[in-house]
Amino acid sequence: METRTVRQDAAELVRRWVIPGESRVYVLTFGCQQNEADSERLLGLALSLGYGRADSPEDAELILVNTCAIREHAELKALSIIGGFKHVKEKNPRVIIGVCGCMAAEPHRVEDLKRRYPYVSFTLEPAKIACLPTLIAETVQRKKRTFLLPDAPDAVPKIDEGIPVERLSRHKAWVSIMYGCNNFCTYCIVPYVRGRERSRASGEVLSEIEGLVGNGVREITLLGQNVNSYRSDCDFTGLVRRVGEIEGDFRLRFMTSHPKDVSDDLIACFSGVPHLAPHFHLPLQSGSDAILKRMNRHYGVARYRSIVERLRARDPEITLTSDVIVGFPGETDGDFEATLALLREIGFDQVYSFIYSPRRGTPAADYPDQVPPDVSRERMRRLLDLQCEISAEKNRPLVGQTLRVLADGPSPDGTPGVVTGRTAGGKLVHFNAPENVVGQFVNVRIDRADAFALRGTLSE
Ligand code: 5AD
Ligand code: SF4
Repeated sequence: METRTVRQDAAELVRRWVIPGESRVYVLTFGCQQNEADSERLLGLALSLGYGRADSPEDAELILVNTCAIREHAELKALSIIGGFKHVKEKNPRVIIGVCGCMAAEPHRVEDLKRRYPYVSFTLEPAKIACLPTLIAETVQRKKRTFLLPDAPDAVPKIDEGIPVERLSRHKAWVSIMYGCNNFCTYCIVPYVRGRERSRASGEVLSEIEGLVGNGVREITLLGQNVNSYRSDCDFTGLVRRVGEIEGDFRLRFMTSHPKDVSDDLIACFSGVPHLAPHFHLPLQSGSDAILKRMNRHYGVARYRSIVERLRARDPEITLTSDVIVGFPGETDGDFEATLALLREIGFDQVYSFIYSPRRGTPAADYPDQVPPDVSRERMRRLLDLQCEISAEKNRPLVGQTLRVLADGPSPDGTPGVVTGRTAGGKLVHFNAPENVVGQFVNVRIDRADAFALRGTLSE
């Protein structure tokens, strides 16, 4: 780990290199909410070095690509976009391109970027975001490209508190409370690229949230790869209860949880903690015990079902969402049918489904019984069709109800006069309203519902 002085010297050097009013930074983000939170730190650090914000990569002197390695598709997309930045660098030799995020923690990708992408100046793995000034300094001072080898996989990196954060929303905020994952699900690259679990001190988390709520933030999402295994001076439930005691008009969410760490105490929070939104995202991954075992998930269908029953006993209206992988090695027609049957039985409000993607270095990538792509695609199609019906059915009873919605921003398709927001359960709502409601809680009467969104009218 570099010392504080090294870091300050590097920052000074970069500040001298940056041209005020001219040098700008562009951060491109792939992947999960954790990456979005990390990007806010990358941006915060770059701004603290004197860079301004660019609206596009063509307009930037510092381009940071915050990558995702969870599936091959995400990696290929990032590589193709990085490839396109060659021309930006050719036009302006001052341009510095850094590849951050999970791909920057995969030794074979780092090697590849070093050899085949000569216009990339450095890679920076997620656990070392604070080293950004040093990497830029190396580039400008010594004209040196830096491709740090990721830490040993069993290392527990130190948490860097105090990295400046440039939040992209004024009313919603990510608050990372723990990093890394110790679970080693056999399909997943995360434990290799984000290292061992480590949790922030509760005092740091609470004062960050108090500051945010004091500034008018209306929604706080506690983030972690395995958020409910948070453990420092208190456990996760202790932390949720303490956040619940903070005064203010805000919603509290958390993600992503692992079923093996869902305690009765956590379930009890859904009826006892002020602010806690009635939404639980709880990845199932498969509805077959045999597959769950091969995935190394540490729970079976019976245990998952019991969690759902207990959650619904606490709050019958709770929104339940999940992740499912189709085509995991060895998944038979029978295993897949068991997944469909469980989805029907549980009735999730929304399911994020993914075709299994082999990740180099994970155990499942070497399993001999890989499922042929056309079989996986067909299963995926059937799962999507089924879940679409279920989601529509779950949303239908909301028609006619008036719900409290946090107005998030203008409609994504740009329709004038339409604003998009989320209900307490996390459901997407499009409604007619002036743009000045963005950032506020408003009441919306639901007029229509389909599988993916609700449509409503602002009500007084
Ligand atoms: N292939 C497909 N999906 C994956 N996920 C994680 N690893 C893989 C993989 N190798 C899914 C899981 C996880 C979600 C974030 O991504 O469902 O919950
Ligand atoms: Fe990956 Fe499993 Fe850890 Fe989630 S819990 S990040 S799926 S290894």
